[in-house]
Amino acid sequence: MTDQSSADWPGEIGTIYLTEDEIQQRVTQLGAEISRDYAGQDLILIGVLTGVFIFMADLLRAMTIPVTVDFLALSRYGPSEQTHGVVRLTKDLDETITGRHVLFVEDIIDTGFTTRFIMHNLQLREPASCRVCTLLNRPRRRIIDIELDYIGFDMPDYFVVGYGLDYDERYRNLPYLVRVDPDQLKQE
Ligand code: IMP
Ligand code: MG
Repeated sequence: MTDQSSADWPGEIGTIYLTEDEIQQRVTQLGAEISRDYAGQDLILIGVLTGVFIFMADLLRAMTIPVTVDFLALSRYGPSEQTHGVVRLTKDLDETITGRHVLFVEDIIDTGFTTRFIMHNLQLREPASCRVCTLLNRPRRRIIDIELDYIGFDMPDYFVVGYGLDYDERYRNLPYLVRVDPDQLKQE
């Protein structure tokens, strides 16, 4: 077992929201479910850098069917609720997705602006299908109504870091998810 305390970090940053075991159990279930649903199909998983890279790596290894993976990168102009998802693609896909089954994989869906932007962009390339899988779903702050096909956890209005998610690019390497107060982290 991993020591789940944040003793090696500068100060207590917050309380554990999901442990490493809780995350891994759910990711294993999602991988099995997706493998069943896409058996015999040409599937590509697509993620947006950087937050999703750890979830993507675990989800891929929980899958038991042939699958490929590709990433996009975006630059955002401030928080999406203030800028209404005004984003620019800074890295495009390397793969062609036309006629293929696409699963868009997200770390967390908050307002929904990012997901809408990406789904619109992917649909223009005419994939055979395009669905959404998110590790974390925070419905309380949703502005854009989007249909989610696979959800790891529905969560309250907490800001969390770890397991790929950052505050100011830090804490991505925590193997679990910690609820933090962004205002407090700002002062550190
Ligand atoms: P939205 O759905 O367009 O509002 O934005 C979702 C994006 O905001 C995610 O892909 C994350 O990069 C970031 N984000 C939202 N909530 C959190 C959080 O609690 N921790 C870390 N990043 C977050
Ligand atoms: Mg981020």
